[in-house]
Amino acid sequence: MNDKVTENKIGILGAGNIGQSLIIKLLEKGYPKDNIKLTYRGSIFTFEKIYDNNLVDMISDNARLVEESDIIILSVLPQAFKQIGDFGLKEDKLVISFMAGVTIDEIKKQTGSDNVVRVMPTGPDTILNSNAIAGVYPENHMLSKLLDLLDVDYYLLDNEEDMKYMTLIGCLPAVYCKYDYESSENKEAVDKLSENFPLFKKLSYKASLLVPTDNKDEFVKKVSTPGGVTQKILSSLDNGESLYDSLVIALDYIDKLNDMVFV
Ligand SMILES: NC(=O)c1ccc[n+]([C@@H]2O[C@H](COP(=O)([O-])OP(=O)(O)OC[C@H]3O[C@@H](n4cnc5c(N)ncnc54)[C@H](OP(=O)(O)O)[C@@H]3O)[C@@H](O)[C@H]2O)c1
Repeated sequence: MNDKVTENKIGILGAGNIGQSLIIKLLEKGYPKDNIKLTYRGSIFTFEKIYDNNLVDMISDNARLVEESDIIILSVLPQAFKQIGDFGLKEDKLVISFMAGVTIDEIKKQTGSDNVVRVMPTGPDTILNSNAIAGVYPENHMLSKLLDLLDVDYYLLDNEEDMKYMTLIGCLPAVYCKYDYESSENKEAVDKLSENFPLFKKLSYKASLLVPTDNKDEFVKKVSTPGGVTQKILSSLDNGESLYDSLVIALDYIDKLNDMVFV
């Protein structure tokens, strides 16, 4: 691993919405094209986006990406991660997971690396627009450099448990596309959640500033990963649950995600 972040080979395993937004931003910031590899599962729609974004030369396969990268970014869905199986890493390569719900222990077990960090950002458009917010756990020098390069406003969390609140924060820009941030029901929900995670108040406000002024439906679509947490919150709201209850249902869902996928 080179101390200069851009000298490292970086592999984006799962170049969907989040993965491609990271690559586009890295390139914009001068990351050498030759130092980036990506993989996807073969969807024609994803290939079209890879093509449109001029990233075709980066396409690799998972085995090569894992072997040749100094930094491996996991931006697949948890279920897809499980299906990949053991990575068989024999050295402690830096593995950065963007996956919601999957614990560091699980990632260490499956990759074989002991050098695993988690990042939970707001959606892909916020990464592209240089206004993403993210939670990070645990502290990692190289990850900090990478997030600085990506213009991400990141917060080091006290423990991994707090990742679940950051996952909610990541969903809030989409929630606030549909639900008024200024409403008394939101204020009440934010106050209650801040009792367990004091940063919630400040970060929910920051999340409210990320609501786009137009193309809201497209924005919501990009952050609504199928089976993901944003979708869970929005469907609970559609079913008539209060905002607070919908967020608590989502927290419960995040808590169970790791066990649902890996046990
Ligand atoms: N979207 C968000 O706002 C957001 C925010 C924070 C965190 N996250 C986390 O980021 C992760 C990705 O979310 P996303 O919205 O970017 O999902 P996505 O658009 O569905 O991207 C996932 C990508 O993984 C690829 N993939 C699936 N199986 C694979 C395999 N075996 N090998 C290599 N690639 C494989 C898929 O390829 P195909 O397209 O070919 O199927 C797809 O391109 C999730 O774990 C989510 O929890 C998302």
